[in-house]
Formats: sequence, structure tokens, C-alpha cells
Amino acid sequence: MTDYGRLITLEGGEGAGKSTQARHVRDWLVARGRKVTLTREPGGSPLAEKIREVVLQDWAEGVSPQTELLLMFAARAAHLQALIEPALAAGQDVVCDRFVDSSYAYQGGGKGVAETHLQALERFVLGDLKPTLTLVLDLDPASGLQRARQRGEVNRFEEHDLAFALRVRNTFLARAARDPGRCAVIDAGVGIDQVRSQIETVLEQRL
Ligand code: TYD
Repeated sequence: MTDYGRLITLEGGEGAGKSTQARHVRDWLVARGRKVTLTREPGGSPLAEKIREVVLQDWAEGVSPQTELLLMFAARAAHLQALIEPALAAGQDVVCDRFVDSSYAYQGGGKGVAETHLQALERFVLGDLKPTLTLVLDLDPASGLQRARQRGEVNRFEEHDLAFALRVRNTFLARAARDPGRCAVIDAGVGIDQVRSQIETVLEQRL
């Protein structure tokens, strides 16, 4: 029987450079002979990408935290079924740009959905699946928002204020502190190469 692959997730606020670093993680694993699937959330499968479009869109009627949360988990359920679980079962590693910690940070910490609801959805959708490793790219929200704006990203998620971004950051950090076996906090406030080398050190130690 093939051994299960490993799920490695990257988390953090806006402008922390997750996507670039996710590609580096993929390349690092490939260089060590692993088969790797690189993916992202919300999205990652055709159905989940459709849900992504819907959830990131601006709606005149507004989008409640509950709706947002359920759409995030609907996308996640589709993504797991179509892509993540088959890849892991085939022994491939999966590198995912954002995953369930983002729901805790944005819909939970950011928008105030109670943690018990998040835990119930996590159990329902993920069962016992947990990432082997979660890299939390930590950045002071003021620089993060500035970086995101410079890139011209203007979906409704990039319009949150600083107080929101601070709650998101604190939720990521609190979750990392509670689960140090799974999470590693990376200082993303430095140059891209320094972020990369911090991540490589963690990968060498933990994978
Ligand atoms: P994206 O443009 O991919 O953001 P980034 O480049 O910062 O990763 O947009 C995804 C947005 O969705 C991002 O603002 C975080 C948010 N999000 C949630 O609110 N909950 C979730 O569960 C996930 C996965 C993402």
C-alpha cells in the first residue's frame, strides 16, 4: 500500500507572500523526489473555484459571516473530495495556499463566528484530516495591507480595516501557539529570500 502523502498549508494575512512561498515549498519537495500537488483555497478544483468566484464577489445584498463561512467550507469539501484526498491517498504531498486556519482567522477571529461552529464544521468536513505542517507567515497588518494594495488586489476581502486584520493575525498566532507540533510561525516582514530560508529551515527540521 502506498504511504499517505503529507498536507502542508501556508497561512497568514494579506500581502505576506504566501503564494510565492507555496511555490518554493513545492520546488523544495520536488527536489527531494516527492510528487507534489500545489493548490489553494478557497478554490483548487473546478467546483471550488466557482464557489471562490461567488464568495469573493461583491454582493449588493451583503454577505453574512454565516454565508461566507458555509461557502468557504463548501468549497473546501469539494476541494478535498476532488483533489486533496485523492492526491494524499496516491502518496503525493499537497501544498495548499490557505486552508482551514483561514476560516478560523477570518470568519472566526475577524468576523466573530463562534469557535464551536468552526470546530463543528471542521469535524464534519475534514474528519480527522489535519495538515502535517502549517507555515504561518506572520506580518504586521499595516505592511500587509500596503503590499496587497500595491499589487492592486481589490476583492472585497482586501478592503477590511486594520482592526480586522489585527484580529486575523492574532487568531493565526494564537492557533500556532496552541498547536506548535503542527504550526511554525515565519517572520514575513523581511525580504523574500529571508522568508524562504526560514521556511527551508523548518522544512528540513520537520519533514
Ligand atoms: P486571495 O486573493 O486568495 O487572498 P490571498 O492572496 O491573501 O491569499 O483571497 C482569498 C481571501 O479569502 C483572503 O482574503 C482570505 C479569505 N479566506 C477566508 O476568509 N476564509 C477562508 O477559509 C479562506 C480559505 C480564505
